Amino acid sequence: MKNPFVPVPAVLEAVIDETPTIKTFCLKPAEPIPFRAGQFVQLEVPGLGEAPFTPSSSPFEPDRMEITILKTGLVTNRLHELEAGVTLGIRGPFGKGYPIHRFEDQTVLVIGGGVGLAPLRSLLFHLFHEPEACGNVSIKYGSREPAEMCFKRQHASWGERPGVDFTPTIDRPAEGWDGHVGLVTTLLDDLDLDREKTYAVSCGPEVMLRFVTWKLLDVGFPPERIYLSMNRNMSCGMGICGRCNVGSYYLCKDGPDMCYADIKDVPYALG
Ligand SMILES: Cc1cc2nc3c(=O)[nH]c(=O)nc-3n(C[C@H](O)[C@H](O)[C@H](O)COP(=O)(O)OP(=O)(O)OC[C@H]3O[C@@H](n4cnc5c(N)ncnc54)[C@H](O)[C@@H]3O)c2cc1C
Ligand code: FES
Repeated sequence: MKNPFVPVPAVLEAVIDETPTIKTFCLKPAEPIPFRAGQFVQLEVPGLGEAPFTPSSSPFEPDRMEITILKTGLVTNRLHELEAGVTLGIRGPFGKGYPIHRFEDQTVLVIGGGVGLAPLRSLLFHLFHEPEACGNVSIKYGSREPAEMCFKRQHASWGERPGVDFTPTIDRPAEGWDGHVGLVTTLLDDLDLDREKTYAVSCGPEVMLRFVTWKLLDVGFPPERIYLSMNRNMSCGMGICGRCNVGSYYLCKDGPDMCYADIKDVPYALG
């Protein structure tokens, strides 16, 4: 059995500038790394350290991996300085991934904020690859400003797919923007979706997840139909170090995508 502490070397083949603060790293691992949408990996910068990220690429292409990363601190700042050609390390995948088996014949409401659209893009790749995996897909995506929107090159093609709608929003009015303005929660006010036939899946900053979850409950979603990506600080990724627990759950093993029904009674589960 493979030692989960030993990273697989992966050559950085290209770096895509998504926004001034977000880049996508296109990696070619020395061996295929099969993963399910929503599972995460530990990406190692040799000599510096590692950090957890959820691949943003298609789970159907395990011989390559794209990871979309917001610059926030030590490891991510260094990653943003790298150019194609260097070798990084990948451990994993860890976690359970999205509960795709539940989505059959259901509408999937995908709610992303900022770089939170990255793990969700992997889910979208899965759903678009296997259209029978679910019913319709409704994507709501919030960013601070137009310049900070991830994957702009793909928005139009997503929205043009049969059964898929894509609505972006920005927090405040901006010159040249004629789309929706307001926090992503404002896109959830008038949802024309059957609450008993829809699963909501959200990923973004912790504060966004909290308000999105409250809003979904407010507009009638049962807790069993709300999933949120709890991408909190993690270390081992394997349920050993105890760094990531929420109640009796280890986010690295039982998540990071948690059903709200499972955590709703845990004090401060939403931060
Ligand atoms: C399962 C999982 C999946 C993730 N997927 C992605 C992804 O696809 N793309 C992406 O850009 N980021 C993702 N993250 C967040 C990413 O792991 C952190 O941004 C990264 O660890 C920061 O490392 P650093 O060394 O650059 O920052 P540090 O120097 O360690 O910290 C800088 C600042 O960022 C804060 N921070 C560190 N880790 C996190 C975190 N997990 N959540 C919120 N704040 C944090 C610190 O508290 C500090 O304020 C994910 C996290 C987890 C747990
Ligand atoms: S990260 Fe170590 S127990 Fe979850």
